[in-house]
Amino acid sequence: MIIAQISDTHVSQNSADRTRRLEDFERTIDDINALEEQPDVIVHTGDIAHDGLPDEYAAAQAILAKASSPVFVLAGNRDNRKNLQQAFSSSGYFKANSEFIEYAINDFPIKLIMLDTLSSHSNKGDFCQKRAETLKQMVKAESAKPVVVFAHHPPFEAMECPDPFQFETQESMLRMRDALKAIDGLRAVFCGHVHRFDKGEVAGILATAMPSTATVLRKGIYPEGMQLRPVYQLHRFDPVLGFISETRIVEEKQPLRHHGLLQ
Ligand SMILES: [Fe+2]
Repeated sequence: MIIAQISDTHVSQNSADRTRRLEDFERTIDDINALEEQPDVIVHTGDIAHDGLPDEYAAAQAILAKASSPVFVLAGNRDNRKNLQQAFSSSGYFKANSEFIEYAINDFPIKLIMLDTLSSHSNKGDFCQKRAETLKQMVKAESAKPVVVFAHHPPFEAMECPDPFQFETQESMLRMRDALKAIDGLRAVFCGHVHRFDKGEVAGILATAMPSTATVLRKGIYPEGMQLRPVYQLHRFDPVLGFISETRIVEEKQPLRHHGLLQ
């Protein structure tokens, strides 16, 4: 099974570089569509929109609608839960009015679990007892399958960041780590938020964060000539070998279509 991960597209209605962000997003989807071996799913690990506005979600949806593979989304701190739910709930994977955006996909050899790590108080992550309980219930259903978890905020300290700690409180991050540690079949945790590559672990299981799809917001050092080329992750899952992850750099010379969105 192949999972393509994209993150932090920050589609914006008002920022000066809004066209570039849309182009990065669109080129990334085009590149995934052109892969010889198509991914089974594409997961967007949040911060779909920069200000959580309905028009930003409409623009994001128009781009994601072109994806050849099924797309699953979760919320980041810049997202507005309500507007995201309204834009994407027709997929049927989550409800339009639930308190959190958290759900499991059981259609593949590995169970995909999407977590909601949003805090209503800050840009940092939160993981309350209620969400820990829901995670437990999601794992219980079809419990024989291995599990991969996706979340916006990485549950580890991203040491390269000016502020490595990504959660509101230590207690909240530890609650998430404990809930993850309790999953017997956990094989990986894939996140976004920090806009750069980072790697940690939860009970010896790989946990990573990936760069923002929006190149203008990407952190870290990239080789000359790569500044305008978005990157995405391909996570290949084999029941015996586990996950093997590859970073793809979007092809350099792709015609940029005029999308006419968010003028
Ligand atoms: Fe972000």
